Amino acid sequence: MHRRPEEIGSQPPLRYPPYKSNLWRAPSQALVTIPERLRDLAVPVYGYLPIVDTDNDLTRQHAGEPLGERIIVSGRVLDEDGRPVPNTLVELWQCNAAGRYRHARDTHPAPIDPNFGGAGRTITDAEGRYEFTTIKPGAYPWGNHPNAWRPAHIHFSLFGQSLASRLVTQMYFPSDPLCAYDPMFQSVADPRAQQRLVSSFDLDLTRPDWALGYRFDIVLRGRHSTPFEGRV
Ligand SMILES: [Fe+2]
Repeated sequence: MHRRPEEIGSQPPLRYPPYKSNLWRAPSQALVTIPERLRDLAVPVYGYLPIVDTDNDLTRQHAGEPLGERIIVSGRVLDEDGRPVPNTLVELWQCNAAGRYRHARDTHPAPIDPNFGGAGRTITDAEGRYEFTTIKPGAYPWGNHPNAWRPAHIHFSLFGQSLASRLVTQMYFPSDPLCAYDPMFQSVADPRAQQRLVSSFDLDLTRPDWALGYRFDIVLRGRHSTPFEGRV
């Protein structure tokens, strides 16, 4: 399949020294090309086992409600021509409202919320649409450099129908002053592509008396592609 290339600077490089731990993961040897016949091989992929109705509502996965600002995050998964991509497994993970992940290696002295696990998943519908209900994640310090703080963000993973189709990215929130200081956000050189990582506040998505709404469309490839981590 012919695919139009992304514009220069619209995707983060594999090796980006200002993001220190990235250097441990960046390839140190020449990349191996997956044969085309394997790249487009349609096979069952991880994660298609039954999805239950609380999987896309992170506020209803535990006995009580999590603390924090309840939000709805919704958007469409689109191809390079703006066509919807249905049946895409969309997974997300995030820290809680205090900026703490529920993970053994997160030792940031902020409280763990017993009612918040921080992970969800759903499948896009015929219009390519997905929706999550969650709480707004907090900023957290991460030790990359002195006084380093990650902007509030939600991690996204997308799985299509083929073996090599997984894409990973992060969603940010509008007008976050920390983005200007964040090496992960800044690893995308093109400011227009940076903005494709930023959700937009959407009053139509907001549910009155319940939750604010943020829209985040994800474009899989082409000139207006969302920046993805580790894409070659
Ligand atoms: Fe994170």
